Amino acid sequence: MKKATLLILILIGWSSIVFAQKDRSLALTPPMGWNSWNTFASNINETLIKEMADAMVSSGMRDAGYKYLVIDDCWLAPERDSLQNLQADPKKFPHGMKALGDYIHSKGLKFGIYNCAGTKTCAGFPGTRGHEYQDALLYASWGVDYLKYDWCNTDGINAKEAYTTMSKALEATHRPIVFSLCEWGNNQPWLWAEPVGQLWRATGDIGCSWYNQPHTDGSWTPNGIIQIINLVAPLRQYAGPGHWNDPDMLEVGNGLPVNEDRAHFSMWAMLAAPLIAGNDLRNMSEETKAILTNRGVIAVDQDSLGIQGLRYEIKDSVQTWMKPLKGGDWAVCFLNTASQPQAIDFDWKANVVKDSLSNAELNANAQPYVIEDLWTNKTLGNTDKTLKATVPSHDVLMIYLSKQQKAVSKKKHR
Ligand code: GLA
Repeated sequence: MKKATLLILILIGWSSIVFAQKDRSLALTPPMGWNSWNTFASNINETLIKEMADAMVSSGMRDAGYKYLVIDDCWLAPERDSLQNLQADPKKFPHGMKALGDYIHSKGLKFGIYNCAGTKTCAGFPGTRGHEYQDALLYASWGVDYLKYDWCNTDGINAKEAYTTMSKALEATHRPIVFSLCEWGNNQPWLWAEPVGQLWRATGDIGCSWYNQPHTDGSWTPNGIIQIINLVAPLRQYAGPGHWNDPDMLEVGNGLPVNEDRAHFSMWAMLAAPLIAGNDLRNMSEETKAILTNRGVIAVDQDSLGIQGLRYEIKDSVQTWMKPLKGGDWAVCFLNTASQPQAIDFDWKANVVKDSLSNAELNANAQPYVIEDLWTNKTLGNTDKTLKATVPSHDVLMIYLSKQQKAVSKKKHR
């Protein structure tokens, strides 16, 4: 080979490592999937994960859009092997991660895994610090499609640098791997992570509660659903196709009353949030399944415009959220945070909404919309009339506004 050609090849190889950037074709809509942590924490193993893959298919979750099956913390053996490779806990995962990934893929799902930017994961297993390229190559060899990357045991390191290193390591594998940053919003990842990953946690951990409530072990206080909504609301300009604010995984089906589950799911859709279920899919109630697979609500979350909803007003404990959608339609969600039912009286013509972020305008004076309730699938008339309704406590009225002339064909597509 001529010297010049050799030099060019070396330069191409070198630049693909040094200047690697995240894969911009990934997560053009918020990722959807299931994660083991919220229900199972450290109690995971190969049988459980296979059963969950089966349940993602048989429950209809996969066909509703949930495709990433993510194994969270506690899958690792306590030490790396003699070559410093990570290894799965041989008791929990006797056939190893490649075989498990193959099983997950055989179900038409994608394979997600967890590690941490620090020296150890949050549960104390080997972290990635100093092994970024080695671990990325190992994940790629196992067929990993998604990496959740946590932030425990990272004393003194720079978040932007640590996450950028892992992003480059993933990119250097040439396998499309969604990179999910999980540093809890501590270092404002929304300001720097757009070129680094596809989603970033914007808050500390979610708890299965409406408002902040101390953990059952009393040692810390996870975020309630309302606190998370308040934390993510001001970040809407940072979200968009390929880069999402992550308000944490879903607690739907984990013990909240059905109205709170419905409100939680509706609001995650309004926030264009990743929809990562965290319940036991093998024995969901019909109510839980109906919430998680509501096609109309999922379509709002997955809308290709990729605009995070805006909080238009808060009145009498009712938050009115608006989300502009592709083609000029809108989703609107009235969230009642009060402990009693609240009446809604919303005059569309008196409320012209101009969203400077998307340049979308909701102006019922110029364009009437047909209103459909996304939870009952009933039509609620159109925007010529004031909307009057009562929203139960800790619940929502979530509606879809279709431009009047398109209403019929739109419905057929959902
Ligand atoms: C952190 C993360 C959680 C979960 C645990 C696992 O707390 O924020 O989502 O991954 O670690 O240890």
